[in-house]
Amino acid sequence: MDLSLTADPPSAPTAAREGVWLACIECGEASPPFDAIRYTCDDCGGLLEVRYAEPVGFDAFAGEGVWRYADALPLDSGVTIQEGGTPLYRVPELTDDVGVETLRIKHEGMNPTGSFKDRGMTVGVAVARELGVERLACASTGNTSAALSAYGSRAGMETLVLLPAGKVAAGKVAQASLHGARILEVDGNFDACLDLVQELAARGEAYLLNSLNPFRLEGQKTIGLEILERFRADHGTVPDRIVLPVGNAGNTAALYKAFRELVQAGDLAVDDVPKLTGVQAAGAAPMVEAIEAGADAVRRWDDVETRATAIRIGNPVNAPKALPGIRETGGTAVAVSDAAITDAQRALAGAGIGVEPASAASLAGLRKLREDGVVGSEEDVVCLTTGHLLKDPDAAAAAGTEPEPVPDDLDGVLSHLDDRT
Ligand code: F0G
Repeated sequence: MDLSLTADPPSAPTAAREGVWLACIECGEASPPFDAIRYTCDDCGGLLEVRYAEPVGFDAFAGEGVWRYADALPLDSGVTIQEGGTPLYRVPELTDDVGVETLRIKHEGMNPTGSFKDRGMTVGVAVARELGVERLACASTGNTSAALSAYGSRAGMETLVLLPAGKVAAGKVAQASLHGARILEVDGNFDACLDLVQELAARGEAYLLNSLNPFRLEGQKTIGLEILERFRADHGTVPDRIVLPVGNAGNTAALYKAFRELVQAGDLAVDDVPKLTGVQAAGAAPMVEAIEAGADAVRRWDDVETRATAIRIGNPVNAPKALPGIRETGGTAVAVSDAAITDAQRALAGAGIGVEPASAASLAGLRKLREDGVVGSEEDVVCLTTGHLLKDPDAAAAAGTEPEPVPDDLDGVLSHLDDRT
């Protein structure tokens, strides 16, 4: 199926319901959106995407948050906790430091549960309700589980989350726990958890809400729509490049889809589409490997390691959607060290923006691409920061300053301050 930016808008097949259907990105097979539970193509097993007979442009958007974009989504409303509408921060000092024309930080950590996953869940959990399922499930490096637990409990549904034992940041486990999910700690990495939960879903034990689920990515499209609307209002143009951390490559796929639909609606010129630029941790970089090799598919990495546990992923399931996104937009992918990620996390914190390690990968990647001359000084860039600092308090404390013990008296405090200055 043609995932290029110049593909014609699709015409509605008989499977369409009110102009919406699911299409296989490999063989093109179309199916109705809500008649049955399906995550991949019944015929060939390819990834599915939601299609619209009439992709909409900027004029169709009204209201706030994710549901401002309802006309670009498969439902009119969702299970909401007021997700979306996140800030696009200006960072003048970082802009100078990196050496680009414009740098803005789209901070997805400002969502209700502290990550962009909320945008996907407000749609995905509403679809689950539409389908009449009782139990929701996901594999997760943490944020998906936190979001699913919150949205699942809001919808009154049971939630099951499979986490890689010992590899999920404390804040995320705490969220899943308090929102009432059943937390299964798997003796394996994230990719093993995803294999398992897919098997559970195939047996009908639960409705899968990982980013394989095409409805979730519809919600995540709104990140791209918000960036473009805000940037156009502030700068009269769209950014040249969007840099984002990559794990399963769901966001990369979702942003690309947002831009393709705007192109189809006639509201974005092909040449203006921002270059999608993915960043991975060096210890978990199969997408970077595929982009550098010009490969059509990604090789699964069995051993992955990084301090940025959110993107400790060796088998990016959305690669078939994301690789065309990076290539068609003229973007690239780059790997960064854990040390560079921590440096970027400190730099963002120094601008008042608190993010978890995976989020800082975007800035670390931009810095590297500037140093390598891949990104030019004239570029307008947006870096996506995907999760809040408090998600991973241990990483923040390790990257930050040490508490200083002082006695409980003023003279003692003053002399301590004198000693240290
Ligand atoms: N940043 C953060 C903070 C994440 O939690 C994730 C993914 C990503 C980036 C990568 O996004 O998969 O769309 O490329 N976290 C998933 C989870 C895997 O389970 O929370 P992607």
